Amino acid sequence: MRLDSSEIVRVAKVVKDFRPGFGLRRKRVLHGISFSVREGEIFGFVGPNGAGKTTTLKVLMGLIRASGGEASVLGCDVRETQFRRHVGFLPENPYFYDFLTGREILSFYAKLSGVARTQRMDRVATLLDWVGLSAAADARLRTYSKGMLQRVGIAQALVHDPRVVFLDEPMSGLDPIGRKEIRDLILRLRTEGKTVFMNTHILSDVEMVCDRVAIIVDGRITYEGATEDFLEGDAREADVVVAGLPPETGARIEEEFGAALRGHADRIEMRVAEKRLKEVLRTTLEAGAEVISVTPHRVSLESIFLSAVEKGRVEDAGR
Ligand SMILES: Nc1ncnc2c1ncn2[C@@H]1O[C@H](COP(=O)(O)OP(=O)(O)O)[C@@H](O)[C@H]1O
Ligand SMILES: [Mg+2]
Repeated sequence: MRLDSSEIVRVAKVVKDFRPGFGLRRKRVLHGISFSVREGEIFGFVGPNGAGKTTTLKVLMGLIRASGGEASVLGCDVRETQFRRHVGFLPENPYFYDFLTGREILSFYAKLSGVARTQRMDRVATLLDWVGLSAAADARLRTYSKGMLQRVGIAQALVHDPRVVFLDEPMSGLDPIGRKEIRDLILRLRTEGKTVFMNTHILSDVEMVCDRVAIIVDGRITYEGATEDFLEGDAREADVVVAGLPPETGARIEEEFGAALRGHADRIEMRVAEKRLKEVLRTTLEAGAEVISVTPHRVSLESIFLSAVEKGRVEDAGR
């Protein structure tokens, strides 16, 4: 089999239609999407619910067939089967037999994926340690928290030491601590040289773990590129609260830096683009005013998705 070293995943003009039933009109869910994932990166496939992320992942895992276009993983067409032994997969809502213990379920998956009997117990112990579940290894899954189950799911995806791991919404439904634990595990995967493909609709997680992203909205890719480039630009803003700002300085800040000012005299709030923040703060301080607080303003995921659409970064053409 061909193991292409630079492109771990390649999706080219993939179309997926679902037929809701006899006589009903087919529904196009993927409109000829294209993107690729490179070796060693943490790739975020990002979009709102219903955008087509899980459908794409199912195509890549060979669970459903595309209606058109081409998709390959590790240089193999996804309709082939050999590449799958080099691939780990965590489905969206994994279901485990909850009367088994963590150790038992992982031994079961190790057996399924062909880990030799003599190595199985060691491999399972290593994985349990790796995901921080050694202490709970012999408790039944029924007693595990959602975060612990998600870690079992990740261990399951790694049981056969794959080159690339596909995770469908690995952080959804977790509390902040659980999210951080999963994030840390994903970052550790990269240090071990794994390529990670991750579906998510949570932008803050993307910011913290993904090297590159493709944004999908309504079955169309609106952006593909470095996470930083995507999050840069006008989209990022900060809220600055100041006191004692002379009105003429306020007017200047509004005009020169495009800031939006609210309030008066002893308490003025300004919303400023992050890239103008330094200048605004300098101007404020030079005018003898006091800066009370600076808070990054999280732009909603939706507005970022929309701005990606507006910027017209549609890449379907030319591929
Ligand atoms: N088996 C199916 N039959 C018909 N429609 C489906 C099927 N699976 C998914 N869809 C539809 O495809 C769209 C994309 O779904 P999905 O890929 O699950 O989105 P995401 O994972 O981004 O939330 C949704 O509108 C969903 O209702
Ligand atoms: Mg999904």
